[in-house]
Amino acid sequence: MPQYAFFRKHFVPLSEAKIGLMTNFIHYGTGAFEGIRGNWNEDKKQIYLFRLKEHFERLLNGCKVLKIELPYSVDDLCRQTVEMVARSGFKENVYIRPVAYKSTEAMGVRLHNLEADYFSFVMPWGRYLDTDKCRVGVSSWRRPGSNFASPQSKITGAYINSAFAKTEAHDNGFDEAIVLNEYGRVAEGSGENIFLVIDGKLVTPGIYENILTGITRNSVIEIAKKELGIETIERPIERTELYVAKESFFTGTAAHIAPIAEVDHRLVGDGEIGPITRELQALYFDIIVGKNSKYMNWCTPVY
Ligand SMILES: Cc1ncc(COP(=O)(O)O)c(C=O)c1O
Repeated sequence: MPQYAFFRKHFVPLSEAKIGLMTNFIHYGTGAFEGIRGNWNEDKKQIYLFRLKEHFERLLNGCKVLKIELPYSVDDLCRQTVEMVARSGFKENVYIRPVAYKSTEAMGVRLHNLEADYFSFVMPWGRYLDTDKCRVGVSSWRRPGSNFASPQSKITGAYINSAFAKTEAHDNGFDEAIVLNEYGRVAEGSGENIFLVIDGKLVTPGIYENILTGITRNSVIEIAKKELGIETIERPIERTELYVAKESFFTGTAAHIAPIAEVDHRLVGDGEIGPITRELQALYFDIIVGKNSKYMNWCTPVY
């Protein structure tokens, strides 16, 4: 069975979905994208797409920023995605990459006088950070401010900064980077939001710190409050707080909830996965595979 893409308004085998070399978005990063996970539940023989609607709401916000008008509503995009995954027939964890982009085959860096289009594909994808506990380093690269490339949107061109940070971390022997913002305060990982545990509460940078307001971040804030009675404080975080927090972890669609064991060669707590992180992980991993009846509204079944 072929792996499917949605391309130029049709479902086609992924291998047949190709774009021309001159397509504007390849050169200038004029695309908005999403990353969505579909999580396989073996007992129910089902894939659940996690918070599908919220991902497409964010995509359409990114389109507004990029002056892209798609002929699809959030509901249309959700329906197409379910159909594409169902056609592909996967029985494992998958990742969906929708992209809205400037599709005109023309040179010239701009947003105006360009056609736009939308594609999406699905692929099997397991772990993103290949470790149970991350060793991380603070990056020399900064999270762009809100007059650079709209930190609230997933704009393809802006991800060069995440690529710099990720590879710097890798080359320095770390699993992931923590990126500071223009004010020198903690923003996020290269592709994840960050939480610290301080005085038994969760602390995470607010939207004004130039973070991407992650859907996993939002889910964790809600789960912590409803299930564990733990409040999240959104506030500026200084670099030193990374070193002295009792626990810390990343959140993201790709990374899930990823414990941080070490920052800049200093152990976080005792360097083991902390109790609050563990409880959140247990809840979250049940919720995303449709095993927690209270959160089924976050899970869209494919089959
Ligand atoms: C820079 C950045 N921050 C945070 C996140 C986490 O966002 P989400 O939980 O919506 O995947 C991502 C991933 O999309 C990201 O690319």
